[in-house]
Amino acid sequence: MATRSILAGCGAYLPDRVIDNNELAKLVDTSDDWIKQRTGIEKRHVVADGELTSDLAVKAADRALVRANIPASDIDLIIVATTTPDRTFPATATKVQADLGITSGAAFDIQAVCAGFVYALSVADNLLRAGQSRRALVIGAETFTRLLDWTDRGTCVLFGDGAGAIILDSYEIEPAATQFGVLSTHLHSDGRYRDILYVDGGPSMNSKTGHVRMSGKEVFRHAVSKLGSVINEALVANNLTSDDIDWLVPHQANKRIIESMAKKLNMPMDKVICSIDRHANTSAASVPLALTEGVSDGRIVDGDLVLFEAIGGGLAWGAGLVRMGYPK
Ligand code: ACO
Repeated sequence: MATRSILAGCGAYLPDRVIDNNELAKLVDTSDDWIKQRTGIEKRHVVADGELTSDLAVKAADRALVRANIPASDIDLIIVATTTPDRTFPATATKVQADLGITSGAAFDIQAVCAGFVYALSVADNLLRAGQSRRALVIGAETFTRLLDWTDRGTCVLFGDGAGAIILDSYEIEPAATQFGVLSTHLHSDGRYRDILYVDGGPSMNSKTGHVRMSGKEVFRHAVSKLGSVINEALVANNLTSDDIDWLVPHQANKRIIESMAKKLNMPMDKVICSIDRHANTSAASVPLALTEGVSDGRIVDGDLVLFEAIGGGLAWGAGLVRMGYPK
């Protein structure tokens, strides 16, 4: 028998307030046309005053628990991937744990910016496979708009807020059925590129939260090549080809990057879950948000093979392959 992490359910939450491109064009010198053409973004959700990352995370987690039909008390591992924690410490995951009424197990945050969800998925999967935890709540949650410089048109048009969550359930399966659950995850980082996408503040640097700074063109170039190669790595590791993939659920940074990945995989865009038009880039939340959309509207069903990929500041990037649902 082998232990696998089954993706038992997912859920998402978006704050109520929506800002469209035309509203942004009143703040900075931009236009709906420019943003749509260069990024595919039409609007984004933005948190209200006083609304915290943990608030979004708990709402997404509640929905994932309901969908998985698993009580919160069964969860013994909570990982929140976020770049926008409620506080510098303690971990936002501990607030989520308390809000869900959970008083045992481990809860901690992971910081890998836009790649955070794939990193958290990998860590949770490995803890489950090793038998250290049994049921994990993996959340990507961001109030990323709080990091924006609303006078910088090169970045403020790109991001939004939101949260997505999945439940991973450790499950003993026959060796013949090991193609279920998380098949593999693949993580990379290269700190030589930390200065092309960063925040110009931090507790040890200047005690300020800081704002996002980005060399967009350079990030774009690295994204296309690094995501292409990590996708290939995931396929080779599982002896699969792109024809075996039912759905690509990519990080939603730029529609042109997403289209370029689909092209590399020779996948039509109707096999790609794309929510960037309505959500913009929600950093660590973008992959579980898109996944939840695909599951909720019935496109992604049990048995489907789903490929996740993401890249963000660091640079940090990764991919994961998951066959949805429990083995029959
Ligand atoms: N509205 C209008 N014009 C703009 C805007 C805007 N919002 N932003 C930039 N421009 C202008 C620039 O000033 C420039 O003008 P110039 O030619 O007169 O100098 C022109 O548009 C072209 O700018 P570029 O930066 O070259 O535009 P590009 O086609 O590269 O698109 C973009 C910019 C959308 C940022 C793109 O580079 C991109 O998406 N990069 C990747 C970002 C990304 O993937 N981030 C993911 C990680 S995020 C994370 O980890 C937190």
